Amino acid sequence: MATSAPENAYVLDTAAKAGQERLNAQHMVLQSILDNRYLVAPLKSPPKILLELGTGTARVHPDCRVIGVDIVDAIGENPPPNFEFRTLDITSDDWGFTEKFDVIHSRLLCTVQMDWRKLVAKIFDHLKPGGYVEMKEVQFPIQCDDNSWETNGMKDFYVSWDQGIKKLGLDWFVTPKLPDLLKNGGFLDVDKIKVMLRAGTWGDTDKDKEDGRLFAVAQYVHPMLFLVPLTKGLGWTEEEAQAKVKETYEGLLTGNMHVYTNFFAMWGRKPE
Ligand SMILES: C[S@@+](CC[C@H](N)C(=O)[O-])C[C@H]1O[C@@H](n2cnc3c(N)ncnc32)[C@H](O)[C@@H]1O
Repeated sequence: MATSAPENAYVLDTAAKAGQERLNAQHMVLQSILDNRYLVAPLKSPPKILLELGTGTARVHPDCRVIGVDIVDAIGENPPPNFEFRTLDITSDDWGFTEKFDVIHSRLLCTVQMDWRKLVAKIFDHLKPGGYVEMKEVQFPIQCDDNSWETNGMKDFYVSWDQGIKKLGLDWFVTPKLPDLLKNGGFLDVDKIKVMLRAGTWGDTDKDKEDGRLFAVAQYVHPMLFLVPLTKGLGWTEEEAQAKVKETYEGLLTGNMHVYTNFFAMWGRKPE
């Protein structure tokens, strides 16, 4: 089984403790905005075996056997008894499995540089007939519908970040293409839901505000998602980038900047 990712394939460091904390906080928000459902695809029966791609810190899983794969083992002590970790680079040709899966799930892999058509084909091959793929991804760039982010240069920060991503040649914009990639890869009943993922303490309800606060914490207290494009892409110093991130984070916590990302859950069924 291949274990090494191509150079620059994944620029965010999950092995670091900060990376684990970021993923844990992010996980709580992503569960919350989906009403704590881990799988939203209309499965015809509960899965017996599920493959989790790019599993990260892997905290919650359905009540079935789960194999989580990643290039980094960030699981930590005492994984759930139904959970088994394997080191695997999902861009590799041989995933090394003999068994087939009822469900293959992935979340937040849009920051991984890879051939998504190839990934969809690998997923198709590794599912049982009638099995489901479910992918959950954010859709960059970050948005604001009412110009509230023009205060304090926050919009400029996000525009710079977007430019840094592009300068590095990173394709973090795959999300809207995924439903068609699934259809073209042979999946049936491809569908999706869209949920607003707020950054900052705004929204109609206390839950909206708390989710937004937690997402801001996840993104800004451990801000590698922002620092990498700004420093490596645009050549900002670490100090400049950190200062802008801090300013943005503080702005988000005022509740006056209505910044969000669209979060999609997308799925498809392998033919019987
Ligand atoms: C943004 S994190 C998401 C983690 C987890 N899916 C979640 O939603 O919390 C992306 C994960 O993909 C993993 N990853 C990056 N490149 C990979 C590769 N080539 N093969 C397998 N996993 C990879 C990273 O180590 C990291 O754990």
